[in-house]
Amino acid sequence: MSLLFPKWTNVLPTVFAVAALGGAATAIGGFWYYATPKFWRVGYMPTQPGGGFSHQIHVGKLGMDCRYCHTNVEKSYEANIPNVSTCYGCHSDGKLAKLNSTPSHKEKTQFIRDAYSKDASIDWIRVHKVPDYVHNFPHHVHVNAGISCYSCHGRIDTMPIVHHVESLSMSWCLDCHRAPENHVVPKDKIYDLAFVQEELKARREGSPMTPAATAVLDAIQKAPPENCGACHY
Ligand code: HEC
Ligand code: HEC
Ligand code: HEC
Ligand code: HEC
Ligand code: HEC
Repeated sequence: MSLLFPKWTNVLPTVFAVAALGGAATAIGGFWYYATPKFWRVGYMPTQPGGGFSHQIHVGKLGMDCRYCHTNVEKSYEANIPNVSTCYGCHSDGKLAKLNSTPSHKEKTQFIRDAYSKDASIDWIRVHKVPDYVHNFPHHVHVNAGISCYSCHGRIDTMPIVHHVESLSMSWCLDCHRAPENHVVPKDKIYDLAFVQEELKARREGSPMTPAATAVLDAIQKAPPENCGACHY
């Protein structure tokens, strides 16, 4: 944690307050825009507890929808992590009995039944986190504006272990806020990460936006914010 929140960040609220007062904003913002270490978090992939959780198996192979587990992404600031009972629904002794008769499968999923029987939670290690001085990251606003999980988390459906794909730096936020047309997709495609990857690649190579995507972009009421107060105290 000391790496994420070095002591000097304690002065940041003051910096924001001063910046909010006027012209300093552009200068400071400009400095930090270029000073932000763009790629230092990319690749971060902590080892998860027990047998872990493979999005590649559950989403890529079994075809599960993100919202089966991350039930709040369209409704709330926080994208929630599912609790043990969601896993237990399939990994109880009774269910998937055939799979559980395979010793290696039974062993890899035993941590789920252990946690469930103790009424404990699984201590998943958090991968994506913006610093505390960024007070406002609303998942629901982004998803409802036609931004796919792909744009910010990459091809989760192909990952045996989740890792960090984008930097989540301030310049990364602002790059999209200044040009959301590079990311907006039709709403029924948001969870189809393979489709979104292809669609956005084609757009970068010069294909026009599809009418369905243009309609979503046009429906965004407020331009994505660039003022400091929108994201900082
Ligand atoms: C069967 C349940 C399940 C489904 C379906 C699922 N996830 Fe997850 N997801 C989890 C669990 C459990 C974790 C926490 C463990 C981990 O990070 O691997 C997680 C973690 C994540 C994380 C990292 C969270 C962090 O700590 O920063 C992201 C991003 C994510 N999921 C995105 C997705 C996307 C996108 C989809 C659909 C393509 C999806 N998930 C489908 C259960 C699920
Ligand atoms: C809808 C049913 C379903 C849900 C919900 C579900 N799983 Fe699974 N899971 C499966 C199936 C089926 C397999 C075996 C897939 C295969 O091997 O092809 C599996 C395999 C696994 C494995 C073994 C992976 C390996 O490498 O062989 C682990 C560990 C696991 N799941 C953990 C979890 C966790 C943790 C959760 C809750 C976040 C969860 N599962 C939720 C159906 C589910
Ligand atoms: C515009 C970028 C963006 C989009 C789109 C996005 N996320 Fe995130 N996600 C983030 C950021 C930034 C964080 C860290 C947030 C924080 O620290 O409060 C995060 C964190 C998460 C977490 C970890 C939450 C926790 O409490 O551990 C999960 C799970 C997650 N996202 C899933 C998803 C899923 C599923 C989708 C698609 C429906 C999605 N995200 C779309 C940027 C995004
Ligand atoms: C891939 C594109 C994209 C990325 C990356 C992105 N945003 Fe956004 N953001 C948008 C769009 C589009 C809107 C406008 C949504 C609307 O008003 O309907 C928006 C709106 C917002 C809003 C205003 C919410 C409101 O209630 O009006 C905040 C705050 C915000 N983003 C914070 C962030 C932060 C912090 C990050 C970086 C961690 C980030 N965004 C990264 C596309 C993005
Ligand atoms: C769209 C959201 C957003 C807006 C608008 C925004 N910031 Fe940030 N800012 C962030 C995020 C996210 C971080 C964290 C970057 C990281 O963790 O690498 C950050 C970090 C910072 C930092 C810490 C140093 C650094 O770069 O890591 C300073 C200072 C800062 N911002 C100043 C400003 C000022 C001044 C403005 C107004 C000109 C502003 N920010 C506008 C999202 C935003």
